[in-house]
Amino acid sequence: MTPEHSGRATSRWTREHASTIERTDETVAPIIYPPREDAAPEINGWDTWFLRTRDGSIATVGGWRVIFSLTAPADLLPGKRHDVAEIRYFYSKDGETWHDGGPVFEGGVRGSRQWAGSALLDDGELYVYYTASGRAGEEELTYEQRLAVGFGGTIAIDESGLRIDGTFEHEILLEPDGDRYERKDQYRGMIYTFRDPWFFEDPADGETYLLFEANTPVPEGEGVCAEPVWEEFNGSVGIARSRTGDPTDWELCDPLLEGVCVNQELERPHVVVHDGRYYLFISSHDHTFAPGLEGPDGLYGFVADSLRGEYRPLNGSGLVLTNPENAPYQAYSWLAFPHREELLVSGFFNYYDLGGLTLDDVATLPPDEQRAKFGGTLAPTVRVALSGDRTRITGTLSHGRIPLESEELPAFPEERLAHREETRRGYGGY
Ligand code: FRU
Repeated sequence: MTPEHSGRATSRWTREHASTIERTDETVAPIIYPPREDAAPEINGWDTWFLRTRDGSIATVGGWRVIFSLTAPADLLPGKRHDVAEIRYFYSKDGETWHDGGPVFEGGVRGSRQWAGSALLDDGELYVYYTASGRAGEEELTYEQRLAVGFGGTIAIDESGLRIDGTFEHEILLEPDGDRYERKDQYRGMIYTFRDPWFFEDPADGETYLLFEANTPVPEGEGVCAEPVWEEFNGSVGIARSRTGDPTDWELCDPLLEGVCVNQELERPHVVVHDGRYYLFISSHDHTFAPGLEGPDGLYGFVADSLRGEYRPLNGSGLVLTNPENAPYQAYSWLAFPHREELLVSGFFNYYDLGGLTLDDVATLPPDEQRAKFGGTLAPTVRVALSGDRTRITGTLSHGRIPLESEELPAFPEERLAHREETRRGYGGY
């Protein structure tokens, strides 16, 4: 499909794969409703990640777990939240009730706003990776993106809970090279990307990596895609390696996966190792598929026998989890993580109760109605059974639930049937 990149080991998500995407019982998550209680009603939260240790386990500090979320004031229009995004942290002992700890950084943060990342606790040192979007202090928002880290802050428990404090030093870790990874000035498409750094240590050899979302430069007029308009859809999963294991020292490598001619945004890439296989996940939107392809907002996944691939799309098409047809934007920005023998997937509660409106329609509604239709909090955690190249949704847990390692979850089938019934009913009248 993209012969010009034949010198690389990069795996491809092809139009052939993507043309088989369809909603099935195995891939459609149950319909969801707002949580009974919102841990932080004054703010909206969306992309979320966990504090993890080098080997990828969820970290605990004095019995607390910590998650980080992109946040914005809840009185702002939800569509404007990316322009002011700030990283806050939340902590929990039971993996269910999350306490708001406030913003992670005080000053010195890179970018005019911060987008998604990951967080590492290594020998007591905290590394908060994030996307520096635009430049600090800019008068007009720009969309350049760079991968950054804040480190040197402290994490400790006190009588009220857990506190992240102190002065963080901020560093830009990586910028696109313009060859394997497109720079902002090269891009010809709809939404530029170089973002979402995600730390990963390969259990096979202990090597340290940073995955990220990017775009592959596609030379104009060389017929890379059969239709020139498809060339604007050039999403990739990038990867950088640390030679020394130092979590602030990275060099770019060839991308892990490309969706050239297929999809523009392969968002928030991350890997789960299960049964000796490498499962690579990304989130993507319905509107970022190239013309002629149809795929819903969803979690897409690929499997390989080693980190560098070659990756095959899960379930043939790549689709692992999507929203019901009658609530197509109810959740987004999924993060898969292993729990015992199964896979759990957390995401955020996005737009709901739309009665058939598209997201463009929502943007024309009065501000109050826009705010009322945006979840802005964690979605119910989804359970997925994983077997080789196939996956199957089996049920859900409560909103934002991250079970403790020791917790055995109830068996699948009953739960699953109850949710299917709800999924069919959907929101009243639609
Ligand atoms: C996914 C995403 C991320 C980005 C963030 C910005 O929801 O597009 O890729 O970092 O949102 O808010």
